[in-house]
Amino acid sequence: MTRVFNFGAGPAMLPTSVMEKARDEFLDFRGMGAGLIEISHRCKEFDAVIDKTDALFKELSGIPDNYKILYVHGGAQMQFSAIPLNLLNLKPAHKAAYVDSGNFAMLARKEASRFGNVICAATSEATNYDRIPAFDPQALDADTSYVHITSNNTIFGTRWQQFPDTGSIPLVADMTSELLSRKLDYNQFGVIFAGLQKNLGPAGMALVLIREDLLGHALPYTPSLLDYSVYAKNHSLYNTNNTFAIYMMMLVLEWLKEQGGVDAIQVQNEKKAKLIYDAIDSTDFYIGSAHKDHRSVMNVTFNIAKPELTDTFVSEANKQGLYALKGHRLVGGIRASIYNAMPVEGCQKLVDFMKDFEKRNG
Ligand SMILES: Cc1ncc(COP(=O)(O)O)c(C=O)c1O
Repeated sequence: MTRVFNFGAGPAMLPTSVMEKARDEFLDFRGMGAGLIEISHRCKEFDAVIDKTDALFKELSGIPDNYKILYVHGGAQMQFSAIPLNLLNLKPAHKAAYVDSGNFAMLARKEASRFGNVICAATSEATNYDRIPAFDPQALDADTSYVHITSNNTIFGTRWQQFPDTGSIPLVADMTSELLSRKLDYNQFGVIFAGLQKNLGPAGMALVLIREDLLGHALPYTPSLLDYSVYAKNHSLYNTNNTFAIYMMMLVLEWLKEQGGVDAIQVQNEKKAKLIYDAIDSTDFYIGSAHKDHRSVMNVTFNIAKPELTDTFVSEANKQGLYALKGHRLVGGIRASIYNAMPVEGCQKLVDFMKDFEKRNG
């Protein structure tokens, strides 16, 4: 069997060694005579899995001890509801500011506005989200409960290079498409959340990192399974959690540690992105979609100067084992999602294909 280089935006490729380990342990988890998905979430063997996942995440991220690590149901968009439910009540005005840097940022704002007084603090909609909008945190009202940003915009291929200083107003970041891809000072954030399906594991669950003082303020009608303090008090096991997703995340973190951790993967990620951006910038045949100063290292978006060639590009690439390169319908063109698990070799193969395609069609 040949595995393709999977450039899909998510669910995304996982390291082959992680997939093999999960396969090898699937029927018989560490001598138990049963698979991990068949055993209780309250047994000591699963306790060891969740404890190890916590410990590896702490070690790899360097997140300070005053943050809780939560495994929350429902993927990233569920957090679009959970964030306002847990944080709007921090101040009596129930006000939140959202920076609109793309489709998911817009969806997050729309969902939050069901629960409180939500303002759009900045937007780059006018340039079809080709950049992170200019945002001045000094202009925020003091009675704002929190500020929400999307640190990496998966569809448009942009990211925040530096994060805004919101002072005493907690900064909330959707890091779904980049968590653990670069070093971070976690102290800048009140809450970070990320769907697992890019850099962490399977879809359907989110990792939530929350500063402890922000727990316990949920709006009174918050459902228990959206209340972060319920997760924090019960080590994310208030009900039957997605044990398999947590186990897969543990394997991914073990793999990341073997690669040299976040420092090493950041160097590799920058190298991968540079390979593709250099190929785009070296010709007029390809046109990068994102403003150069705002480019994502995880999602590289570009167009072909002759857009009618896009489908041929995608299908020819697919035949060469370069899978899922079609851009999102809101941007069109090509998108190469190159999360942590994508090897340099995959990006080099894409660049070789791009050059050959240009030679034949330019
Ligand atoms: C930045 C970002 N936020 C939110 C989501 C939505 O994630 P989910 O499908 O897990 O709800 C995605 C999905 O790709 C994303 O890229």
